[in-house]
Amino acid sequence: MNVDKTTTKHRSESARIREDRPDDSRPSSKRKHEYDESIDDPRRRHPFDTNALDHCETPRAAYEHLRDFLDVLGRSMMVASTYGMSLWDPYYCDGGSKRILRDIGFDNVIHENADFYDVIKKEESIPPHDVLVTNPPYSEDHIYRLLEFVVGTEIANQRPVCLLLPNWVSRRPDYETRFAIPVARGKCELFYLSPLTPYTYIMPPFVHREDRPEHVGSSGETTPYLSSWYIVVPSSLCRGNSFLEMMDAVARKRKPKAWVVARTVRGLKWKMKKVRQHVNANGA
Ligand SMILES: C[S@@+](CC[C@H](N)C(=O)[O-])C[C@H]1O[C@@H](n2cnc3c(N)ncnc32)[C@H](O)[C@@H]1O
Repeated sequence: MNVDKTTTKHRSESARIREDRPDDSRPSSKRKHEYDESIDDPRRRHPFDTNALDHCETPRAAYEHLRDFLDVLGRSMMVASTYGMSLWDPYYCDGGSKRILRDIGFDNVIHENADFYDVIKKEESIPPHDVLVTNPPYSEDHIYRLLEFVVGTEIANQRPVCLLLPNWVSRRPDYETRFAIPVARGKCELFYLSPLTPYTYIMPPFVHREDRPEHVGSSGETTPYLSSWYIVVPSSLCRGNSFLEMMDAVARKRKPKAWVVARTVRGLKWKMKKVRQHVNANGA
């Protein structure tokens, strides 16, 4: 994939990011990991280069919403228990995703402090997993490297994928050609699950005060962008109805209403408006 790393590109990207930020504060300049000399340095937290602004962990609410989908998926995959499915989150911050997923019932979560790009160099080092569930770093070209991996490996192996990504990713001009079209060609269904209340991420305490942008509160909480789950499911797993239809049925019955699903991110906005009108008129 053609990844543009020019300064101009970064400038236009940060303009786009500001557009989508709930508040208009700007991230501070990028800094490499403070302890960068050697991966053997005991003070170095990760065995890969990091950007402090990427250290934002997925909140519990996002996994609780995803669990509604994994329940439906588990039934379609005819696994003995949804909670036994192995979930792989290859992007490591502070181990929060494994802790929360375990807390809500998923015992089989692979989430190691390892360099994802090293791991995927050889197909045999990719851990066996049922579903890729991850929230990647947004800096540099990480998102595109992840999308490329999904198309080249996960879809090729017909594995379901759940990516928590900013909504602006789907509006990128090359998103269709680099992701949505290859997903459809790979005989997979793509849809989006978005919360009615935007997800608030958590910057872990190890991120130094001077590396924290203004929009991060003293508790470490931040809502840098509107984000949604980008969900890819092999069409062979749906029996009759599409996953979107099955999830729509779950959403209609769910109390309280917490999320909507749609075929496009634009469609999410329309559905959210409808659900809010319904909640205002009828209660949760
Ligand atoms: C947005 S955070 C999300 C962490 C976790 N997946 C979650 O959902 O809570 C992205 C993390 O990716 C990590 N990261 C950056 N480069 C990586 C790499 N090459 N391999 C694995 N993780 C990486 C960073 O340390 C950063 O904290």
